[in-house]
Amino acid sequence: MRERKPFVGGNWKMNTNRTTSADLTRGVIDALSSVNNAEIAIFPPFPYLLSVRSILRDRGSSIKLGAQDCYHKPDGAFTGEVSLDMLKDCGVQTVLVGHSERRHVIGESDEMINTKLRAVVDAGLIAILCIGETLDQRESGHTDPVNQRQLRTGLADVSADAFERIVIAYEPVWAIGTGKTATPEDAQDVHGKLRKLLAQMYNTDVAQRTRIIYGGSVKGANAEELFRQPDIDGGLIGGASLKAPEFAQIVKAASVTAAKT
Ligand code: PGA
Repeated sequence: MRERKPFVGGNWKMNTNRTTSADLTRGVIDALSSVNNAEIAIFPPFPYLLSVRSILRDRGSSIKLGAQDCYHKPDGAFTGEVSLDMLKDCGVQTVLVGHSERRHVIGESDEMINTKLRAVVDAGLIAILCIGETLDQRESGHTDPVNQRQLRTGLADVSADAFERIVIAYEPVWAIGTGKTATPEDAQDVHGKLRKLLAQMYNTDVAQRTRIIYGGSVKGANAEELFRQPDIDGGLIGGASLKAPEFAQIVKAASVTAAKT
């Protein structure tokens, strides 16, 4: 039996509307009502957090409500930003930090990501720290240094105690939304190295307890072979999380590997 409970997140990105976000939430709840050995979270767009939350609550679901981003300041003149207090007020329990689209499309720096991560943890929420190399970085042999740098800078000034509320998501940028998935062996190689680095930066207990999940074109058809790898503790799912049956298939693959390994 694997000691880490798998974590599977559905990152809806800038998709759905009022009707489809509600339908998708109901579909996910119905499809996953019998799964209890995986931690599940869904990350709807900000405007639908409250309506998704009320469906989760009315149905007594244990699926966690997540936000795709946050701002680290508590309040004030930050037009367009959303604070952690606001997210908590809407029932959010977990927040994505440093998603590759925030890094590479919006331009967030490692330092900004670290500031956000510390704010999420200080707010008592679960931070999902996303890291991963671009295709150029992989092809020029820089996969390991890039991921190590993003892990180290993302976790700067974060204490070992905070790891109860941190999940690491390795998401190679070239695999996100492209249909190209890392092979289970390549993903395992990176996950294993990240776990070793956590042991060096903190201790073996932190390294063994921390979930390191994989993201990048995970589908119903490839989830199980990825999640069977010893250091892959679930997934962060984009496109395939927009279809309840496929997302459910992925979560079930995680729960099967949790039961068998
Ligand atoms: P994808 O996205 O599953 O569509 O590749 C993953 C992510 O961005 O978290």
